[in-house]
Amino acid sequence: MTDPVTTEESHVTPQKPAGGVKATSERPKAKPAFDFEPKIRIENLSLYYGQTRALFDVDMSMPAGEITALIGPSGCGKSTLLRTLNRMNDIIPAVRVTGTVAIDDVDIYSKAVHVDLLRKRVGMVFQKPNPFPKSIFENVAFGLRIHGESNRNSIEETVEKSLQRAALWDEVKDRLRENAMSLSGGQQQRLCIARALAVGPEILLMDEPTSALDPRSTARIEDLLDELRSDYTIVIVTHNMQQASRVSDWTGFMYEGYLVEFGQTEKIFIAPEKKQTEDYITGRFG
Ligand SMILES: Nc1ncnc2c1ncn2[C@@H]1O[C@H](COP(=O)(O)OP(=O)(O)OP(=O)(O)O)[C@@H](O)[C@H]1O
Ligand SMILES: [Mg+2]
Repeated sequence: MTDPVTTEESHVTPQKPAGGVKATSERPKAKPAFDFEPKIRIENLSLYYGQTRALFDVDMSMPAGEITALIGPSGCGKSTLLRTLNRMNDIIPAVRVTGTVAIDDVDIYSKAVHVDLLRKRVGMVFQKPNPFPKSIFENVAFGLRIHGESNRNSIEETVEKSLQRAALWDEVKDRLRENAMSLSGGQQQRLCIARALAVGPEILLMDEPTSALDPRSTARIEDLLDELRSDYTIVIVTHNMQQASRVSDWTGFMYEGYLVEFGQTEKIFIAPEKKQTEDYITGRFG
């Protein structure tokens, strides 16, 4: 992998929250620019697929109850970074992670962390809607059952609440026993969101959740994100620049494994500090 941003000058300026977070690297760090308590704090994070390094010393923090977008050209490490946040990379052989990912100040890579419980707190929605070949109801109930819920009333209540939250209830309330595969793509994606919400996560990770959808379904999901934003901390990967600027509060621009720039979305899109960011958002590459 080429290494376009190794000089200190052009390397990402680590954006750290105020509040005495301990630096883990010897590199000089910029003064904290943002005044928020991070829900997710990433420090000096690197990831290797075998011999190939896919993330380089990523530093960023994501505030609670807001939406952070990750943008950048294909292969720059967006999905990889997203997967580090609920240890989805654990299931890929030969992956090695160094540095820190902390949620509510607890390092999620520490031995004490129970990965199943972590993934309950940090839900994930993928690019392609991936409902199980089961009924609409069972798709949403699935996670509840896995986590030991057996009370029928309680399951029914949570399924309804989750479908409402995912803005799907009105469309499916009379067909809950139908197979989820009978739903449209946009409905399937909202079902996957309902499935993720059912187990009561605090964080939602979304990897290009609308790239397989038509504009109308995309708009519905974007509206939904807006409704969910205050109750969840959301991290969304998107190739769609308009989407990032519409839905997110914070944006990180990645390039070849580096987080080049991170800041408030408005600033990134109107007055980015790095030329690479500007070139990307103005469509000069990627
Ligand atoms: N399971 C894997 N094994 C080995 N290398 C991988 C694996 N997944 C991703 N990579 C490599 O890591 C780098 C980052 O990939 P990643 O999928 O995170 O990029 P991305 O920014 O999400 O791209 P896209 O926009 O195309 O989804 C790429 O060079 C990719 O080839
Ligand atoms: Mg990806």
